[in-house]
Amino acid sequence: MNRNRRRLLGHAGAIAPLALFADLPLPARAATTVIRKAIPSSGETISVIGVGTARRYQGAAGEAELAPLRDSLRTFLELGGSVIDTAPSYGNAEAVVGKLLADLQPSPAVFLATKLGATGRDAGREQIEQSFSHLQRRPLDLIAVHNLQDVETQLAQLRELKAAKRIRYLGATTSNDRQYKAFEAMMRKQALDFVQVDFALDNRGADQRLLPLARERGMGVMVNLPFGRGRLFDATKGRPLPPWAAEFDCASWAQFFLKYIVSHEAVTCAIPGMAKPAYVVDNMGAATGRLPDQATRKRMEAFIDAL
Ligand SMILES: NC(=O)c1ccc[n+]([C@@H]2O[C@H](COP(=O)([O-])OP(=O)(O)OC[C@H]3O[C@@H](n4cnc5c(N)ncnc54)[C@H](OP(=O)(O)O)[C@@H]3O)[C@@H](O)[C@H]2O)c1
Repeated sequence: MNRNRRRLLGHAGAIAPLALFADLPLPARAATTVIRKAIPSSGETISVIGVGTARRYQGAAGEAELAPLRDSLRTFLELGGSVIDTAPSYGNAEAVVGKLLADLQPSPAVFLATKLGATGRDAGREQIEQSFSHLQRRPLDLIAVHNLQDVETQLAQLRELKAAKRIRYLGATTSNDRQYKAFEAMMRKQALDFVQVDFALDNRGADQRLLPLARERGMGVMVNLPFGRGRLFDATKGRPLPPWAAEFDCASWAQFFLKYIVSHEAVTCAIPGMAKPAYVVDNMGAATGRLPDQATRKRMEAFIDAL
């Protein structure tokens, strides 16, 4: 590693201070390194910020709708992002992601995660084959059973797929605390590479049992709904960042919300929905610089709870 690069890398694989990062032109930013974390079951690392594709990537058909999405993904890749999360239930989002990646030809390839939400083995298999076709990728990196739907049957099917090397990792998702009890029981029973759960500064229920259990069981954690679908932006609208946010290289509310999540020891990455290049630049800033320590994380919780 050359001296410059060593200087830029912190102990967590972090890069230079955020102000410097934000001022750099895109190619120069790409030359630096974003914070990455290891997938517990393999040691392979992924960027701590990924792209969620629910809602904003579905429905795009013509070039006018595809162009801003392509620009967003291009920016994400140029900034060193490596994870994209999608699902067969997000309208045509899988096909949109497949097309955009075919256009962009990222190298190295992105870590591509999708889901399986079907009942019965045949319906599950049909959906899986559609995902391969829409995403134009073999093997797929991760397929996770969506919201516990027919979870035993579908996980068994995913295990076969993994053994056949058609997928690299398998997992399960939830985004609703009404499912947490059943989700916890499933986590205790099944060997999973990843769980995907909802977790945000104002929605910390997953931290009670699911996140510690994931750590104990050696499962990677992807965090969905990191902004509560924008709820956190509404809560902080018009308010300045507290001055102590600068102590962990945080320059925006989005980075405040995301740095809280990715600094959790059990979390592997957060997957905010981002369909605008400006959002991508902002959110990828959360994968750079210092992260808050435990005491600061508590301070962040108290700050949001007091709003
Ligand atoms: N059960 C499951 O498996 C499950 C459930 C839900 C979600 N997910 C996954 O999690 C991902 C994230 O969820 P989500 O997209 O619904 O919600 P989210 O990430 O909590 O919020 C995304 C919204 O925040 C706004 N935003 C993003 N970056 C911003 C920035 N820098 N500044 C200001 N506003 C910003 C955007 O709103 P506008 O676009 O309105 O401007 C965006 O649509 C999904 O895309 C999906 O991949 C999985």
